[in-house]
Amino acid sequence: MGSMMQDKVVVVTGAGGGIGRDIALALAAEGARVVVNDLGTSSTGEGASAGPAQQVVDEIRAAGGEAVANADSVSEAVAASRIVQCALDHFGRIDGVVNNAGILRDRFFHKMSVDEFDAVVKVHLYGSWFVSRAAAPHFKEQNSGAMVHMTSTSGLIGNFGQANYSAAKLGLVALSKSIALDMQKFGVRSNRIAPFAWSRMIGTIPTETPEEQQRVERMKRMTPGKIAPLAVYLLSDAAAGVSAQVFAVRNNEIFLMSQPRPLRSVHRGEGWTPQGIAEHGMPALKASFVPMDRSADVFCWDPV
Ligand code: NAI
Repeated sequence: MGSMMQDKVVVVTGAGGGIGRDIALALAAEGARVVVNDLGTSSTGEGASAGPAQQVVDEIRAAGGEAVANADSVSEAVAASRIVQCALDHFGRIDGVVNNAGILRDRFFHKMSVDEFDAVVKVHLYGSWFVSRAAAPHFKEQNSGAMVHMTSTSGLIGNFGQANYSAAKLGLVALSKSIALDMQKFGVRSNRIAPFAWSRMIGTIPTETPEEQQRVERMKRMTPGKIAPLAVYLLSDAAAGVSAQVFAVRNNEIFLMSQPRPLRSVHRGEGWTPQGIAEHGMPALKASFVPMDRSADVFCWDPV
């Protein structure tokens, strides 16, 4: 067991399985006391069970670590504040938050229902806001704290059939930057990780053709445990000075992702007319257009 997280108390949401579970295990292995939150719901957010969170707590305790289970939903303000309260009640403090809980309701945009949009935004964006907001006064009070938010290249780059998820995940990127800016003076850091990992969330990909089977075999190499080291590092004091960044992790690769800045500009002293933009401005800007690509077009090589 390491000691990078000695004396720290961290809440990990959606830690009953997948990426969150491995983050909780890795935090405990570094000496953190962990609130393992998980609603125990399906990958589309139906049903609830206290079982998954308790199971991970049992695993942590069996390995000699300290943890407590919480089965509240991140997607409602009062329930989400109970998750933070759970850390205070059991361990007397809170030092870190990992906003990891998530669901998917994929549907092409023109067919997506209000409920499908709402449910996904509620868990990813509102959920992260609720939990972060509940932790913030304690971070301010003690002049320290770290947050890690799980975003996605579906939001950063794009993907088919995920308008709800992409909107929530890119919203979360802005939320994290805002937290980093507003709370810098209290020693609070906020970073995002866009993970790639084989979990139940992407385990529904069809495997009918040999090509699909091959692709899935390659994806299975990206185990959820590969995300945990960066998350633990970002929550530790070793990451002092690291804030407002967007990282991606895919198996053994760690990426620092870009954040939007002007790519190119055009200027005309007398100002622009629509026609002038058509004839002059847009052709010049076009040279730097971002292609109509998806996450898989950008991360187009096999996981290393
Ligand atoms: P997962 O489905 O294995 O884990 C998500 C967990 O969140 C589940 O245990 C679920 O019960 C819990 N959960 C769902 N709604 C909740 C709520 N309202 N309150 C509390 N817990 C709730 O999925 P996975 O893959 O481990 O995903 C973890 C995070 O990483 C998610 O935010 C996901 O969007 C993100 N992510 C994952 C990628 C991947 O390749 N697996 C890619 C990009 C992002």
